[in-house]
Amino acid sequence: MKFFLDTANLEQIREVASWGILDGVTTNPSLCSKENVAFDVLIKDICAAVPGPVSVECVSTVAEDIVKEAEKLAGISPNVVIKIPVCIEGLKATKILSAKGIRVNMTLIFSCSQALLAAKAGARYVSPFIGRLDDSSQEGMELIEEIVAMLENYGFPTEVIVASVRHPRHVVNAAMIGAHIATVPFAVMEKLVKHPLTDIGMEKFLKDWGKVKR
Ligand code: G3P
Repeated sequence: MKFFLDTANLEQIREVASWGILDGVTTNPSLCSKENVAFDVLIKDICAAVPGPVSVECVSTVAEDIVKEAEKLAGISPNVVIKIPVCIEGLKATKILSAKGIRVNMTLIFSCSQALLAAKAGARYVSPFIGRLDDSSQEGMELIEEIVAMLENYGFPTEVIVASVRHPRHVVNAAMIGAHIATVPFAVMEKLVKHPLTDIGMEKFLKDWGKVKR
């Protein structure tokens, strides 16, 4: 399973990159708005800090404009993957961009049919938002199960990025299903590592090490 960090915060990205388990980063306009850095500079710096794909979202709403914006963003760094919300104009743009070899991550996916059309249009990644589905009393993980099975049925090369991850169980369940990628906020990434019994065990081992004859 690949681990992406869902953030635009450089400090968090550099920290998790130092753990040796970071495969990529996903950003969105809301995450970028939290950073007090000019957008182009921010994306350039993130791309330099990450050894893998960095999703950057287009805000244009008409296919022609999305393509122009995407080409500009893709020029920032070879790491850039273009994030496009799933909609008719987005599908048109995805078809054009993927034919040009520009990788697209279709985002704001809330149904299996949206993921199917995104894959058909040539999206390299699809991002179903499971936490937001859970928030509206639906079972986000069921959508992941359906999308993974559906893509496998036809051998689509599209990878599923489990997004809107809220807790470690989301990550574990996604891994059990065989989703390709989870994009995880920093706070959840930290929780994935920690366990109180590990802390207690380490403390005891260190204490007992002090009693070992050397
Ligand atoms: O990757 C998408 C993610 O940033 C959305 O998460 O928590 O705003 O639903 P959230």
